[in-house]
Amino acid sequence: MTYTLERADLFISENKHLLRQDYRLNYHLMSELNWMNDPNGFVHYKGQYHMFYQHYPYKPVWGPMHWGHAVSTDLMKWEYLPVALAPDQQYDRDGCFSGSAIEKDGKLYLMYTGHIMTGPNKEKDYYQLQNLAVSDDGVRFTKVDVNPVIDVKQIPDGASEKDFRDPKVFEKDGSYYVVLGSNDGQGNGIILLYRSNDLFQWSFAGEIARSDGSLGDNWECPDLFELEGRDILIMSPQRMPAQGNDYHNLHSTTYMIGSLDTDKGKFSYNEYRPVDYGFDFYAPQTTVDDKGRRIVMAWMETWETAIPTQDGHHWAGAMTLPREVKLSGDRLVFEPLEEVKAYRSNPYEAHSIAMDGLQDLDISGDSYELQVVFEAQQAEEFGLKLRVHGEEETVLSYRPGDRLFRFNRDKAGAGLGGERRCDVELENGLLALRIFVDKSSVEIFIQNGEKVMTGRIYPGQQSIGIQAFSNGACQIQSLLKWDIK
Ligand code: FRU
Repeated sequence: MTYTLERADLFISENKHLLRQDYRLNYHLMSELNWMNDPNGFVHYKGQYHMFYQHYPYKPVWGPMHWGHAVSTDLMKWEYLPVALAPDQQYDRDGCFSGSAIEKDGKLYLMYTGHIMTGPNKEKDYYQLQNLAVSDDGVRFTKVDVNPVIDVKQIPDGASEKDFRDPKVFEKDGSYYVVLGSNDGQGNGIILLYRSNDLFQWSFAGEIARSDGSLGDNWECPDLFELEGRDILIMSPQRMPAQGNDYHNLHSTTYMIGSLDTDKGKFSYNEYRPVDYGFDFYAPQTTVDDKGRRIVMAWMETWETAIPTQDGHHWAGAMTLPREVKLSGDRLVFEPLEEVKAYRSNPYEAHSIAMDGLQDLDISGDSYELQVVFEAQQAEEFGLKLRVHGEEETVLSYRPGDRLFRFNRDKAGAGLGGERRCDVELENGLLALRIFVDKSSVEIFIQNGEKVMTGRIYPGQQSIGIQAFSNGACQIQSLLKWDIK
């Protein structure tokens, strides 16, 4: 099959009436039709936020990758633009894989991975190289004549000749740099750094980081940026083994705070931590906007899990809410953006609710923001049940005794189950939750974004109840809710 931009756009416009709305999200970016995975080319350009995404327009499954494209002025409401890249050249013939965007001399450049199959085995018979496309208006992109701009010949000894992908380009001290995810062929993820003066000619600048054995066998989607003078590396390790309560998904995301030495080609760091503690969060990408905010968005899914909308809904995959990344000591915190407030309606407020047992709250919904502060008091366990009806419920709970916060979706609805946990300390006896529920998603910002848990859920349409519960006496100090549409 030959893939072209025209064919993709035509197919989307002729078939989008097929979309089933039941689980379509109200305030998150989804693909216009069919498949979406990683965020790509996230950038603020000429007054708009641009988000591109890994996209297969023809079916709600992964296939030869295109780049879908949407723009927004506030990161909340998105408008779809024509598909930006299709796999229509020799050097990307089996997929335009993930990559990033950068503005140079008023033009918008996309750097992305060309995926090339050399035989029938999807797992083994392929190689990857890096390409460039450019646009004057941020809508129509032309792939440059000299592609590939980083060829397989430029892969250093000791790095995989196959897995060499997901360029994230940035400018530092007057040069351009790109980080790429790879592995050493021996089961360890690595990150490669290349340097350029013009985005067209690149030279290898070092293997800046490598797994110590605990961080998965291949690293995808690296992102390297500066925040308050520190260098932050975020990436997505594949098949990383669980550690205690952390890293229980098949593929994870982690961040490291350290320092990048571009002369030596090394990134040094001490610790790494999860970016998100939930079920569905992968391949995050950041950008900095005109207000100087560092903003991250991720694919609100992960590989090799069921996506109930693949069956008859004509879409699969969504992005998380945009989150501002801030430094707090030697950790990152993630906060919802101010922009969300403009979408609030039907405010509800209650204070000092004494709790012991299960309690219906006077509120309901399938698309809202909830801010709850619990005072733990004597309770052994307390929490919230969301999207409740009959047997269905999504349970968020906290136990002061073991300092564990849990997100359980065993009875959340269609398809999925399981529990994710994270360690959380009370602050002066208080637990503060800021929760965003959209029609098939939950994002929980715990203790002001110290930890975030993200997950997809697929409850029935009647499952809109909200309850609080406790085992032993505790108090809801404050409860605020707004619908978000
Ligand atoms: C991450 C990823 C990338 C790759 C893309 C392909 O989710 O596997 O490494 O470029 O998806 O769609």
